Amino acid sequence: MTAKLDTVKVWDPLVRFLHWGLAASVLLAYASGEEAMTLHYWAGLAALGMVTMRILWGLVGPRHARFADFVPTPGELGHYLRDLLAGRARHYRGHNPLGSIMILALLLTVLATVASGLASWTGLLGHEAGEELHELLANGILVLVALHVGGVLLASLLEKQNLVRAMITGRKRMES
Ligand code: HEM
Repeated sequence: MTAKLDTVKVWDPLVRFLHWGLAASVLLAYASGEEAMTLHYWAGLAALGMVTMRILWGLVGPRHARFADFVPTPGELGHYLRDLLAGRARHYRGHNPLGSIMILALLLTVLATVASGLASWTGLLGHEAGEELHELLANGILVLVALHVGGVLLASLLEKQNLVRAMITGRKRMES
């Protein structure tokens, strides 16, 4: 018997707005870092605002937006990785355990990058050391984003559905 696939609402409008807003502001901050400094400061502050809102929404938002819904225990993560390698990972309605770890890494690295930028700008951290740390973290974000997008595309292939579109429409196809 073939399983019936229904589309279900997963990502609320704020999660979707914050995702694409954060992606745009991070990429804009990266692109403007060398020359357009005013734009760079505003893009960095926008990223800080969006990460802060996303963290608050992760505490009080609807079910699939909450950290409690998707942050895995080490046991759950290990179980998921074993299943993934064996080609039988289950499909999650919200974020899968590996994706969730990447989400935490992205949010924390963006926060640390903005903090190091502010610390070097205000002179809290020695100017040169602050800038070096800021650049290192910014390049770290780029590596994480490449892995993130690769993971999203791989998960889309495994789940036979377009997860990027789901982050736009808010709906995923799930077996009922
Ligand atoms: C600077 C760039 C990016 C950052 C910082 C970023 C960050 C994040 C974060 C924090 C989440 C969790 C969403 C939430 O629950 O709020 C997420 C999920 C997601 N991101 Fe990104 N993202 C970036 C770029 C992209 C790009 C370019 C794509 C598309 C190609 C993408 C596709 C997705 C998808 C599909 C999900 C949901 C994954 C799932 O189904 O579990 N992201 N991203």
